[in-house]
Amino acid sequence: MTYKVLIVDDAEINLVLFEALLKRMGNCESASFSNAVAGLVSAQTEDYDLVIVDYMMPELNGVDFITQFRQTPGREDMPVLMITANDQKQVRYRALDAGATDFLTKPVDKIEFMARVKNMLQLGASRKVLADRAAWLAEEVRKATYQIKERERETVIRLSKAAEYRDPETGSHIVRMAHYSELIARGLGMPREECELLLEAAPMHDIGKVGITDSILLKPGRLTPEEFEAMKLHSVYGYDILKGSSSRVLQTGAAIALGHHEKFDGSGYPGGLKGEAIPIFSRIAAVADVFDALTSERPYKKAWSLERASEHIKASAGSHLDPQCVTTFFSQWESVCQIRQRFQDDEDAITIL
Ligand SMILES: [Fe+2]
Ligand SMILES: [Fe+2]
Repeated sequence: MTYKVLIVDDAEINLVLFEALLKRMGNCESASFSNAVAGLVSAQTEDYDLVIVDYMMPELNGVDFITQFRQTPGREDMPVLMITANDQKQVRYRALDAGATDFLTKPVDKIEFMARVKNMLQLGASRKVLADRAAWLAEEVRKATYQIKERERETVIRLSKAAEYRDPETGSHIVRMAHYSELIARGLGMPREECELLLEAAPMHDIGKVGITDSILLKPGRLTPEEFEAMKLHSVYGYDILKGSSSRVLQTGAAIALGHHEKFDGSGYPGGLKGEAIPIFSRIAAVADVFDALTSERPYKKAWSLERASEHIKASAGSHLDPQCVTTFFSQWESVCQIRQRFQDDEDAITIL
């Protein structure tokens, strides 16, 4: 490996001497400047393994040189050797403060010069190896985290798929509803990670329907009051299936499953929670779920027109649904239509998800 060394010294004779010594070391290439300002520009723009700078120079002294050099991005760790006279203790202190790595004393001893340079280059090289290793490790962690997230997403999709086997609601409903939910969350100004979390967790809202008997779940007509009571349990079943997980997505899914049939005026189930006592994700999911249920065909009903469904949702603001979530939903009507268009019933929605 060849090292690049920069020498900045106003005395030409020193430049010649240092260049000759570096050449003798066999693995160094040097660039030298007798003008400190030009040397600084080179130090700030070129990549060197070591910078050797004299203290006493007319245009810019060594301490100011080092100060400006260290302020340049990416130059924080590059080794800098400063050349001073033996009696300049105060200068050395200031140079250390400015970021000098080590010193050479005038008159420069050849053997000491080469030994110091060799040490500095080795120090820089090991620092680079460490930095590369840190970058490699960070990249590995990023990859592993991505894989974990991917697996988590797959778990959610497979869980939702299992529920879909029994649920007459289509996979597209799950996907549309999740996207509407994310849209509302974004409209409410929630942080990006929260919006993504909602998008991933919302598909599990009805997972508890796996615990509901077919005679109720697939009944084409209206449910009797007893059947409806049994049907209501799907929110608690969903919560039971998903709760207690260490995964944030599943935890969120549990909360949404439990709360998505709560109503803003307190008349919902299972908790009869009112207003802001209902977690925000559940209030959002409720708007998305009801809108998509109304505008989709089900065994017991035809799909409502967009106008009729919109009117119904608007009329439910404050009673069934959170008014703020409803307003936010309709304020992004164009995106709502795009989601509806993008995830139509005939597509394999789970794959899209
Ligand atoms: Fe539900
Ligand atoms: Fe639903």
